[in-house]
Amino acid sequence: MVNVIAAMDPSGLIGLDRAIPWDYPAYSERFKATTVGNAIIVGRHAYEALGLRGERTIVLTRRLDNGCRLTRQGLSYVGTFQDAYSIASIHYPPQRIWVVGGGHAFAAALRRRINRVDITIVPTVVDPAGRPTHFPVGDLEQHYRLISEDPDPHDPRLTHRLYQCRNRSQPSR
Ligand SMILES: NC(=O)c1ccc[n+]([C@@H]2O[C@H](COP(=O)([O-])OP(=O)(O)OC[C@H]3O[C@@H](n4cnc5c(N)ncnc54)[C@H](OP(=O)(O)O)[C@@H]3O)[C@@H](O)[C@H]2O)c1
Repeated sequence: MVNVIAAMDPSGLIGLDRAIPWDYPAYSERFKATTVGNAIIVGRHAYEALGLRGERTIVLTRRLDNGCRLTRQGLSYVGTFQDAYSIASIHYPPQRIWVVGGGHAFAAALRRRINRVDITIVPTVVDPAGRPTHFPVGDLEQHYRLISEDPDPHDPRLTHRLYQCRNRSQPSR
């Protein structure tokens, strides 16, 4: 099953100048606990900027000659979201698959109407001067419904929201 995990500020901003402009240890811990041992799908920018290195990492990039490349065990480069899903399903079943960013990768995941979206709202209001990246909030509001909203047990400044797709056409994606 494919899921999204993301953190955003109250305006939907997820990144600035290729970085994440906040640091909440409680979120980092939650992110690690959620994704560890599972396959992650990540856009090339986020992969290069954030050092999101897992044992089962699938990097989205269109800079491929022959579609899909497995460069070393546990790291794959793929040219489409569908290929990312296929690789994860073939190599890493029956684990959960987490789409971990950035903005383009999140947009691709929501276009595919993946099942669940796990969003943490951070209280930092970021000045978007520079190169901001946003979560595709419009798609989220249109195609997903909020099923839970809870404060973080270790840092009540953080709010965790879980969304589920309203109209999934494919049961496992
Ligand atoms: N707050 C959070 O939860 C969070 C998490 C992760 C990242 N971020 C932030 O997000 C920002 C980066 O986001 P971004 O939107 O610039 O980049 P991104 O989504 O990380 O990467 C974009 C690149 O990934 C490839 N790509 C994306 N979707 C694709 C698709 N459907 N098919 C094939 N390739 C695809 C393309 O690579 P090529 O150019 O190689 O073709 C594209 O240029 C950074 O600021 C980062 O810190 C935030």
